Amino acid sequence: MTITIIGAGYVGLTTSALLAVAGHKVYCLDIDEEKIKIIKSGKSHFYEPGLDSFVKKVIDSGNLIPTLSYADSIPESEIVIISVGTPQNDKGEFNLTYVFDSASKVIEQVSGSKLVLVQKSTVPVGTGKKITSMAKSAGKDIDVLSCPEFLAESTAVLDTLNMDRFVIGGESNDAKSKVIELFEGLDDFSKTVDYTKLAEFQSIYNTEFKTYNKIPFKDRVISVGIESAELIKVTANAYLSTKISFANSIARIAEGVGADITEVMDGIGADRRIGRSFLYAGLGWGGGCFPKDTAGLVAIADDIGFDFELLKAVRNINFSQVDYVVDRVKSILGGLENKSIAILGLSFKPGTSDVRESPAIKLAKAFTNAGSQVSTYDPEATNEAKKILKDDVIYASSVEEIATNSDFMILATEWPEFVSADYEMLGKLMKQKNIFDARNALNRIELEDIGFKYYGIGR
Ligand code: UGA
Repeated sequence: MTITIIGAGYVGLTTSALLAVAGHKVYCLDIDEEKIKIIKSGKSHFYEPGLDSFVKKVIDSGNLIPTLSYADSIPESEIVIISVGTPQNDKGEFNLTYVFDSASKVIEQVSGSKLVLVQKSTVPVGTGKKITSMAKSAGKDIDVLSCPEFLAESTAVLDTLNMDRFVIGGESNDAKSKVIELFEGLDDFSKTVDYTKLAEFQSIYNTEFKTYNKIPFKDRVISVGIESAELIKVTANAYLSTKISFANSIARIAEGVGADITEVMDGIGADRRIGRSFLYAGLGWGGGCFPKDTAGLVAIADDIGFDFELLKAVRNINFSQVDYVVDRVKSILGGLENKSIAILGLSFKPGTSDVRESPAIKLAKAFTNAGSQVSTYDPEATNEAKKILKDDVIYASSVEEIATNSDFMILATEWPEFVSADYEMLGKLMKQKNIFDARNALNRIELEDIGFKYYGIGR
């Protein structure tokens, strides 16, 4: 098939590269010239484990065609997938400018045979129907479907190749069959891929490891109405966010009563009805999705006159985690003025260079605002962090560098290289051997044995 995917971000570029590897001709369209230039050179413009090798392969084979042009790509395509950003606006709602702009440019270019337009961006309920009306008023023959995306950054390739479920919403069964066929082919192709190379980060928050999915793809398809598909996407993210804020709340109680949050969550997570995944207490959730999607769902609820108090509380709990850590460090050190704070990690989670809404960045800001000297190190996210933190902090190129003469070391993002670092050696470089494990990823007993004062979340 020939298809066009609009938006070359985490979802768009990963899906484009993999559908191209599976044998399709794929136009990957973006309005950002710089991004298209980088993709043309055979690379991704962001760090995502395993993605570069696929991009290189399909650029070399010619199956992936990065483009800025709707006129070159849309008339040739049987299926067009929209996967552009929907950033949050001032009112907390989804900004749909890019979705509607790209939909109207697609509609403009359609002529002749019927086009299937798949909406993959995260949007409020009703967006698909609005695009259908736009096409109808322009007199164009287009089937609009909603096909939400569930891939997570750092495991984007693995998640795209091996989906737990494939949700597809819309009216036309013919259009649905065509799209299911496209992704079923990708699932067949996935059986030829070596997963172990892509699995580095999959165990961070998940206890159910992905292997080749033995359930036939067709049995994983969830075919629903377009509004349900749109609501499934934001609801999934709201639910996962709720699990994490719930764990962070119990962590406060655990700390107050002398329990250990990790032991408590292991104890409840073993109940299959609850599950252990996404119950890891820490610095809170960040990234380009949970903060925006929870705000978006609160706004959707407001629109229909429902006050979604539960989700508002989930958000407040989340955004108080950083202050909680800063306050604890302040009381331990007896003030933060002129203290040297070493922050390990800047990305919103390990395995990505993405710093959008990163708790680590918020932590760095809070300490600099309180008069501390902050030094940071991240294996992949430093360039992105510089755009936000400017010259307010020191950017180092190793853990040793930031440990030197520091009063407190804080694990903000649990990159594997931080978890396995040589803390005995690092402790010798520090002014005071204080460590705050704000992701509960380190071995408390080992650290205390080598003389560290260890602090964690809820333990
Ligand atoms: C999330 C969802 O997991 C994807 O299914 C969804 O497709 C994506 O949003 C999206 O809407 O595009 P992502 O934001 O890439 O994916 O990252 P997650 O792995 O979900 O982590 C989100 C945040 O929660 C991170 O800051 C992470 O550190 C934090 N987290 C996660 C915890 O603090 N504890 C946990 O147990 C799990």
